Amino acid sequence: MVEFDRSRVAVVDHPLVQHKLGILRDKRTGTKQFRDLVRELAHFECYEATRDLPLEDVEIETPISATTAKRIAGRKLAVVPILRAGLGMVDGVLDLVPAARVGHLGMYRDEVTHEPHEYYAKLPRDIAERTCLVVDPMLATGGSAEAALQYLRAHGATDIRFLCIVAAPEGLARVLEADDEVRVYTCSIDEGLNEAAYIVPGLGDAGDRIFGTL
Ligand code: PRP
Ligand code: URA
Repeated sequence: MVEFDRSRVAVVDHPLVQHKLGILRDKRTGTKQFRDLVRELAHFECYEATRDLPLEDVEIETPISATTAKRIAGRKLAVVPILRAGLGMVDGVLDLVPAARVGHLGMYRDEVTHEPHEYYAKLPRDIAERTCLVVDPMLATGGSAEAALQYLRAHGATDIRFLCIVAAPEGLARVLEADDEVRVYTCSIDEGLNEAAYIVPGLGDAGDRIFGTL
């Protein structure tokens, strides 16, 4: 297997995640269920990727007494989907972090070279001050993720976490090599890539399965 820096990769392998991922991979799973599962898996990924957010004390009164409660402090969040398939994870993140801003990065993979082509970008103006959760279900060759991270770095982002559902070792190696600081959250590290640069066993084309364009 291709080697990569495992200290910057978190595998979110809760039993519920593994169960849902099994259904997601199954080729008999239809568009509606696939979309729902991607959103649900994004909950678990977001939960893990935000585990270290700082807290501050806040004084409140319950119906019974005064108490000190906690609230999230520090940087605000942005969720940045890589189009199209990343869109499938946005609502899952927003379910947990409703005030997050959303930036969009449009990329498609060339079918022959497998290299990414950027076709759209729109980020929150204050992206440099935000913790960025970049979302894309598939990390295959890593080309799209690398390009997305480069774009965000060039626009001043410093705190970036990459959330995918299935990752290939080749993609992990490429992304972690290209970006010294990013942390990657994935539900699975799969075997590798086939000759068409699809993840094996993977789940097929995530964008097509989310949007029903097979
Ligand atoms: C897929 C996927 C990733 C990319 C992963 O997108 O959603 O963005 O491929 O492959 P890579 O790691 O080799 O770059 P695709 O280009 O098929 O576009 P889509 O999301 O519009 O379907
Ligand atoms: N993009 C996908 O949607 N699936 C793969 O396996 C690789 C790239």
